[in-house]
Parts: sequence; C-alpha cells; structure tokens
Amino acid sequence: PLVSPKEMFAKAYAGGYAIGAFNVNNMEIIQGIISAAETERSPLILQVSAGARRYAGQTYILKLVEAALEESDLPICLHLDHGQDFDICKKVIDGGFTSVMIDGSHLPFEENIALTKEVVEYAHPRGVWVEAELGQLAGVEDDVQAEENVYTNPDEAVEFVERTGCDSLAIAIGTSHGAYKFSGQPRLDLERLETITTKLPEFPLVLHGASTVLPELVDMANSYGGQIAGAKGVPEDLLRQAAKSGVCKINIDTDIRLAMTANIRKFLAENPAEFDPRKYLKPARQAVQDMVQHKIETVLGSSNTL
Ligand code: G3H
Ligand code: 13P
Ligand code: ZN
Ligand code: NA
Repeated sequence: PLVSPKEMFAKAYAGGYAIGAFNVNNMEIIQGIISAAETERSPLILQVSAGARRYAGQTYILKLVEAALEESDLPICLHLDHGQDFDICKKVIDGGFTSVMIDGSHLPFEENIALTKEVVEYAHPRGVWVEAELGQLAGVEDDVQAEENVYTNPDEAVEFVERTGCDSLAIAIGTSHGAYKFSGQPRLDLERLETITTKLPEFPLVLHGASTVLPELVDMANSYGGQIAGAKGVPEDLLRQAAKSGVCKINIDTDIRLAMTANIRKFLAENPAEFDPRKYLKPARQAVQDMVQHKIETVLGSSNTL
C-alpha cells in the first residue's frame, strides 16, 4: 500500500536507524530501488522532484508507482522532493502523494513559516505528511562565520516546528546536493545535530545532500570516458552516526545517477556494436539495486525492519 511515513519514522527513531528516500525519474530506477528494498525487507520512500515530475509527467510517475505496489508487498511512501510553492504541493496531494516537502529554506524566517503553514493547512486534513526545511545546504567551507549564518539554528528550529505544525524538518549541518560536497576534509556538524535532536525529542529530522559519491562508481565512470574529477560525498560512518540521532530520513539521488551512468558508460565502451537500450539499461538497473542494498545495509541500517 501507499503509506504515510509516520509509522516508518516512529520505528526508525526508536531503532536508531534511518529510512532511505530515493529520487526517481523513470521505470528502471523505480524497479532497481524496489528490488533492493524487497531483498533487504526494508521500508522506503520514493521521492519525486519538480524536475522529475516535468521529465516523466505526474501521471506516468503515479502509474509506475502503482505498478510497483501491485508487484510487491512493500509499504511505499510517495513524497514530493523540494516543493517550491503551495501550488505544486497541492497538485501532488490531489494526485495521491502521501508526503510533501515545502522548501522555503531560501526565504526569510517569517516567510518560510507562513508558506509552510499554508501547505500544512492543506495537507493535514487530507492525511498528508509535511516536511519543511530550515537552514541552507549550499556547500560551505571551514568558515565558522559562514556556518553560523547558513546552518540550522537549534532554537529557531524549535520555534519553526511549533509555529508551522510541520511533521519533519530538513536541517543544514554541512551536507550539500550533487557530487562535489567538500573541497577539503569532509565534516558534518554532528554536535549541532545532537543539540537539535535534544531540543526536538521524538521529532523526525531529514538529511538532504546525503549521497556518499561512491569512489568506485566515480572511478568507473571516469575510466570509461567520464569527466567527474574531484567528486566527494559524505563518508558512510558520518551518515551512520547521523542515523543514530533524530535523523530519520536520508536523501539519495546523486549515488543513483552515478550508479546508472558509470555502468552505462562501461557497457557501451565494452560493447560498441550494441544499440538496444535494454542491453545497457539492464546492468544500469542492477547497479541501482546493488547500490541501494549496500546503502540499506551499511548506511541506513534499515534491513529487516518491515
Ligand atoms: O535535490 C535535488 C534532487 O537531487 C533532485 O534533482 O531537481 O535535478 O531532479 P533534480
Ligand atoms: P544528493 O545529491 O546528495 O544525492 O542529495 C539528494 C537530495 O537531497 C534530494 O533532495
Ligand atoms: Zn534535497
Ligand atoms: Na534516527
């Protein structure tokens, strides 16, 4: 069934693990993720960005997820990733999504609160979960002044949650989107995470920009013609520590893109005469499955928790 993340998060919070939220754009990505979760007996969240919704179309996404629900016995949460305004949140709620993110993190505090409240007021009577964001993810260096300005302020987080009634909160503690997360030594402000967890007991926190940018995938892509130099993600042990705190949802997109592209590059380089898309999409789909299983086992800790 299509479910709310409520129960998943409550169990994850109590168990000290996290639920993987994987970005989906097409059939092969959905199938790879579903097969991985089935094998691991792990709950999961499929999330759709505005770009994914434009690319595939909301109806195609919904029908693909419907197929996954018919083919497997997994509880699946369908979530809108980075909703920019009330309108897109309303559209996916009306379409049947069970969870939305309203991302007002770029707005001044009071405007972020007002926008988030507006979405909460539409979503809650319809049984839909609302994730909001406070703080900015943009890649920052070791500049403490900069961190104070963009990382999530724990007291503001408490006030934000109280005043908006949001159900979960994405926080900024040093992660960033994409394949280039750190120029020097990777670090997360786990102390800040602990403080936020303590001030918001039982409240699910979300980590965006949490791909590990697996070096073997970057190397594979680069050795078959890719030019992804200097890519660096969040180390697995830091994510594992975060998952033991209030972090209940860990977002992963870049690692899926890398798994697919590295394997498609490899296949095409080794089989230059092949031109049947099924031939290269099959190993790409398998690579997504393998990567997600690895993630569930070593980073999320959500195996056998259904
Ligand atoms: O946070 C961004 C996600 O990785 C989705 O990316 O907007 O290119 O689909 P996208
Ligand atoms: P990555 O770019 O680290 O995969 O982050 C994805 C994300 O946060 C989607 O919202
Ligand atoms: Zn994100
Ligand atoms: Na957790």
